[in-house]
Amino acid sequence: MITESFVQQLTTDLTNTLQTHWLGRTIRWHDNIGSTNEDALAWAQEGAPDGALVLSEYQTHGRGRQGRAWESTASKNILFSLIVRPQLPHGALGLVTVATSLALAETIDRAIAPLKTKIKWPNDILIEEKKCCGMLLETAYPPDQSARPPFVVLGVGLNVNQAHFSPDISHKTTSLLLETGRRMDRIELLAGLLGRLERRYDRLAEVDAPRYIEQYEERLAYLDERITLRLGSSGQTISGMLRGISEGGALRLETAEGMAILHAGEVTTSGVDPKRNGAAL
Ligand code: BTN
Repeated sequence: MITESFVQQLTTDLTNTLQTHWLGRTIRWHDNIGSTNEDALAWAQEGAPDGALVLSEYQTHGRGRQGRAWESTASKNILFSLIVRPQLPHGALGLVTVATSLALAETIDRAIAPLKTKIKWPNDILIEEKKCCGMLLETAYPPDQSARPPFVVLGVGLNVNQAHFSPDISHKTTSLLLETGRRMDRIELLAGLLGRLERRYDRLAEVDAPRYIEQYEERLAYLDERITLRLGSSGQTISGMLRGISEGGALRLETAEGMAILHAGEVTTSGVDPKRNGAAL
């Protein structure tokens, strides 16, 4: 049972450890909630400040990408939703995903050294081909649309100290504990991550965007390999060589018909003939 005083202590510990200026300076930490993303979306609409943070020790309806559920044992992992209002040109919101993925990968790399993460487009973080972290970005518009930019809710689930996962996902899911054998301090990890996120967002001006794309591609899983992209729930797929990401963070896939720029989908390597990896299309 997660007590109110335990959650209060976590909030105090995080506030005292954080070295950010604006990010994570207003916090709601729940013991149990449906979904932190849902709570953050509602809070944003009620006027939450930029950088407000919703955390929870447990979620009864944790949301994943493409309508999937997000599973996480109580008080073992990091579950949060961050509210930001980036001043970016229309169509550049993909850069927020890029910046967030980089901050996540850097934070996890420090914790798991000498192991290293890879980013699976658009925003899964992998260790040795297994997913340890996922992100769900949702946008919404405030009622006075003309006056303010849309707010973005960035939901992050990072598996830290969970030792077991249900059989249907255990072959493709992992945690920092499972990969390193070390139990980690969640507050320390979180404070490091929020600091990196703030620095990345502060420099998200166009001048840094090309550098972010380069850094992302350096960490991109299956780069220059043949992959299949599943497009939504329709079952439609498109295959080709993964060549990187566009300046807005979309996937660049070299297909038999030419270069395709794809904004959503699920990268898979199943159904791909391994003998053709790296070979002609
Ligand atoms: C994915 O499918 O990879 C995205 C998973 C995102 C899960 C996090 S957990 C905290 C936040 N609240 C949610 O309901 N989902 C995100």
